[in-house]
Amino acid sequence: MRKPRTIAPADGPLAVLVPGLGAVATTLIAGVEAVKRGMAKPIGSLTQLASVRLGKRTDRRSPRIKELVPLAELGDLRFGAWDVFPDDAYASACHAKVLEQDLVDRLREPLQAVKPMPAVFSPEYVRRLDGPNVKKAPTKRDLGEALRDDIRRFMKEHGCARGVMVWCASTEVYLQPSAVHAELGRFEAAMAANDPAIAPSMIYAWAALQEGIPFANGAPNLTVDVPALQALALKKGLPVAGKDFKTGQTMMKTVLAPMLKARMLGLDGWFSTNILGNRDGEVLDDPGSFKTKEVSKLSVLQHILQPDLYPDLYGHFDHKVQINYYRPRGDNKEGWDAIDIVGWLGYPMQIKVDFLCRDSILAAPVALDVALFLDLARRAGLSGIQEWLSFYFKSPMVGEGLYPEHDLFIQLTKLKNTLRHVAGEELITHLGLDYYEK
Ligand SMILES: NC(=O)c1ccc[n+]([C@@H]2O[C@H](COP(=O)([O-])OP(=O)(O)OC[C@H]3O[C@@H](n4cnc5c(N)ncnc54)[C@H](O)[C@@H]3O)[C@@H](O)[C@H]2O)c1
Repeated sequence: MRKPRTIAPADGPLAVLVPGLGAVATTLIAGVEAVKRGMAKPIGSLTQLASVRLGKRTDRRSPRIKELVPLAELGDLRFGAWDVFPDDAYASACHAKVLEQDLVDRLREPLQAVKPMPAVFSPEYVRRLDGPNVKKAPTKRDLGEALRDDIRRFMKEHGCARGVMVWCASTEVYLQPSAVHAELGRFEAAMAANDPAIAPSMIYAWAALQEGIPFANGAPNLTVDVPALQALALKKGLPVAGKDFKTGQTMMKTVLAPMLKARMLGLDGWFSTNILGNRDGEVLDDPGSFKTKEVSKLSVLQHILQPDLYPDLYGHFDHKVQINYYRPRGDNKEGWDAIDIVGWLGYPMQIKVDFLCRDSILAAPVALDVALFLDLARRAGLSGIQEWLSFYFKSPMVGEGLYPEHDLFIQLTKLKNTLRHVAGEELITHLGLDYYEK
């Protein structure tokens, strides 16, 4: 056994602060309340269900993750939110129509208790939305300070000494990192000067980090993925993670593409299209927000297939991604993949995937795990980018000069090995020779 890291206990309530009280956030909150009351099972959540094998296969030691490392209990979570619309979590869950009305009604009381604080919002960043529950202040720096006040007040009112923030708000328009994002001093000066390159999501991340709260980004916007905010995270000793929850079609892609590469099968083209009719779909119907999502979705195959190493197999494939807003489907997204692959002697074959999924049902357990693991990371003294949480993201954040690891099962190995490392257990290499060489 190696020496475990010192992990502070998960005592007392944990504030889970979510900008964006829409479909994903309300499905998360209602889900936690339902599980707490024994009304449903936390399916899809590793923190609640998964185990980790320790030692040799013959040792038969496979504790649950929550037995291996101290995680916050669901009963200790206190949800706080901001939204552009004043609807509480009950009204918003009714609007989102993800969960059956009967379940939402049975959870009316705890859901009504989550009332969104006024948002930091700019219609230039999310063009398809406009709502009344928005903060007003002369500068972006003042807006950031107002968010800090909200955080402090919430923590005090709910008796929380620890918190995490998980961005569950709409996807902002595409933004390239620029000079104002390069360094913390310039970033803060730009906030004070109302520089248009400071996105609302960045103001939330800045406020959270200033208040000692780790931050994760569930959407593809740049947000904490800029040097200025990463420097702030390191300065404060806080973990950050992102970006863009990996849930439906991209999760499939990061399972199927490694299979092609593992067997040295070629790829001629991959056509992906989606229809969905929720508010997220409406926002993504705007080309600015779609561009952000498209960039997040497109990069996956290049990184997994490594065309530079395998030009004959992956040097010239087409890759298209479409998202179509189609109201009748609501949150029940349908994602199709038409995959043209190439086998022995160049013979073409096809794979078709039709994933009739439920967007927020897939995203809620991911958001829960990210919140609990970020809190664990903080208590274990891990700061800056948490690459081991790549498992949960379409565009995983990585350190400078590194390429992201997209393969879902390599990501899972990394996640579990990080948990073993934190707990002081031996890492598992899957070599296994010692079972045979006596
Ligand atoms: N499977 C998934 O559902 C999935 C996967 C990956 C990423 N995401 C991302 O997660 C985010 C949330 O998805 P959703 O389906 O809940 O969307 P949603 O539209 O139902 O909810 C987003 C909420 O954020 C609010 N909002 C927008 N800008 C805000 C701001 N600046 N401050 C506070 N609130 C703001 C909106 O009013 C809305 O209520 C989206 O960005 C989406 O792209 C979702």
